[in-house]
Amino acid sequence: MTDPHSNWESFDARIRAAKTADELAAIEQELFGRKAGAMTLALKSLHDVPDAERKAAAATLNTWKRTFDELIQLRRKELASPSDETLKSADRVDVTLELPQRERGHLHLIPEFIREVEEVFGRLGFDVAAGPEVETEEFNFNLLNIPRDHPARDAQDTFWLKTSKKDMTATSLPLQGERLSEGNVGGRKGLHDRDRKNPEDRLLLRTQTSPMQIRYMQSHKPPLRVIAPGKVYRKDSDATHSPMFHQFEGLMIGEDVTLANMKAVMIEAIRTLVSPTAEFRFRTGFFPFVEPGLEVDMRWQGDDAASREGKWLEVVGCGMVHPNVLKNCGIDPKKFQGFAFGFGVERMIMIKHQIPDLRAFFQGDLRFLRQF
Ligand code: PHE
Repeated sequence: MTDPHSNWESFDARIRAAKTADELAAIEQELFGRKAGAMTLALKSLHDVPDAERKAAAATLNTWKRTFDELIQLRRKELASPSDETLKSADRVDVTLELPQRERGHLHLIPEFIREVEEVFGRLGFDVAAGPEVETEEFNFNLLNIPRDHPARDAQDTFWLKTSKKDMTATSLPLQGERLSEGNVGGRKGLHDRDRKNPEDRLLLRTQTSPMQIRYMQSHKPPLRVIAPGKVYRKDSDATHSPMFHQFEGLMIGEDVTLANMKAVMIEAIRTLVSPTAEFRFRTGFFPFVEPGLEVDMRWQGDDAASREGKWLEVVGCGMVHPNVLKNCGIDPKKFQGFAFGFGVERMIMIKHQIPDLRAFFQGDLRFLRQF
């Protein structure tokens, strides 16, 4: 029998160095394979060793055998759970590596602007309310002192909806604006039959946020201050009109709220929301639900398009709330008075950022949206 002593040492080294479970299994097979395993054969060959040497030879072999058993078991465990060394090299973090920039989105400029509006008016003590976009004719027109045959209705080309009893409860459009206070009137659930006192009352997409004046006054006692931002709809489309656009309504009612107070609030809002140097003008305007009524125009600023240079854009309708409207909401017009206003959100932003076409807000062109 050849002395395999040096071989055993090399097996020892190979087991310790085995890189994978497969490699280890192969070495194990080489050693302990039933037919040709080196250790198996060595143990068998003990028969041929002269009696005098057999005991010592057997002891040596058994020591090696135990060593290998233990080593293999140990190495198998190590390979199953990587050692600190392997972890160190595999999980190395290169802190100098430059990672690609993560893209972060941001709010569309309209909701962003509306948040600013809520903040600015919040500082002036105004509550924020939201109401349904699907409105009744009653709230959108009648209670606002715009009777059925009034020509003022023509100024707001209305999207009418089918009005069946079924439709009335199916119009649960989600409301705009997440951060609502108790000023949320009309309910997040949308309209209900109880909102329609008159069976003749037709449904429409609100043409203005002014029905929120009614909803708020019917559910809150004066003195009160509220704004109501949201979407409105009119059959209109050109550079300064879109069939869906945003307004925010404002309402302040008290015992001695005057037109001077209204002007102060308007001017403060325009200067903080658009620009401290914004040019604007008040002129008289007609809205059946205010008396007197005013409109505020803003001048296109820093504009390089000659066609708009020096031109005015109508941005706000406002005025002192008409006594009939107060009466419609159960408020005594001899005791209380106040003002209401409706700002066109897109138009304010157009003036602020010199955007020539209102339709750009809704085309989803990232080159446009990323500028803000
Ligand atoms: N609702 C009017 C419009 O959309 C604006 C307005 C609001 C006018 C409040 C007066 C008072 O044109």
